[in-house]
Amino acid sequence: MSKVLIVYATDYDHTKVCAEALARGVESTGGTAIVKDAGDATGEDIEAADALVLGSPVHMGSPDWKIKQFIDQQCSGLWMKNAGIGKVGAVFGTGSGFGSAGGGIELTLLALLNNLAELGMVLVPLPKNTENYADGGLQWGPYARVHSKDTMEPLEVSEVQLGIMTAHGANIARVADAVAGQALFKP
Ligand SMILES: Cc1cc2nc3c(=O)[nH]c(=O)nc-3n(C[C@H](O)[C@H](O)[C@H](O)COP(=O)(O)O)c2cc1C
Repeated sequence: MSKVLIVYATDYDHTKVCAEALARGVESTGGTAIVKDAGDATGEDIEAADALVLGSPVHMGSPDWKIKQFIDQQCSGLWMKNAGIGKVGAVFGTGSGFGSAGGGIELTLLALLNNLAELGMVLVPLPKNTENYADGGLQWGPYARVHSKDTMEPLEVSEVQLGIMTAHGANIARVADAVAGQALFKP
């Protein structure tokens, strides 16, 4: 069964709560989920896993610097060794901006997917047949809004949004199971 490393950055724990919901999805398939703060996760953690999932709040329209620090300091070592190639990668995020689209969630998710593609990973999207997709999903991955889009009143991550995170985790684990041990990318 697959081993999925979930690395998140957070200031106020909303993204951590999402990471834990995603882990429940991994575990629902019989897989193992390792959930780590971006400051604690290492290159060895990634090498030991079949899949890497990155989660970040939107900060000024892009990922939190703490997840970028993890990418630059820990993921780059795998890039040098080709050690990420053929593993599975996926992303999720949280945000708050005014209006339906939020302020930069797509750019944030795409930036993180770009980093995983750089490592040669097989990327897992969020398909639109996911239950409640319209309430917390984008094709790039799930996201949770933690302030009202009209008033900026603080919100907790909703049960619906947590459910989408869990569904994403289950999908990632199933893809990792299918991909594990396959020599997909030949030199
Ligand atoms: C420094 C900073 C910048 C932020 N910039 C944005 C932004 O550009 N767009 C947005 O939608 N939310 C923005 N937010 C709101 C956070 O994305 C949102 O509150 C976040 O999901 C909280 O996650 P956390 O509890 O895991 O830290 C910003 C928050 C902070 C602290």
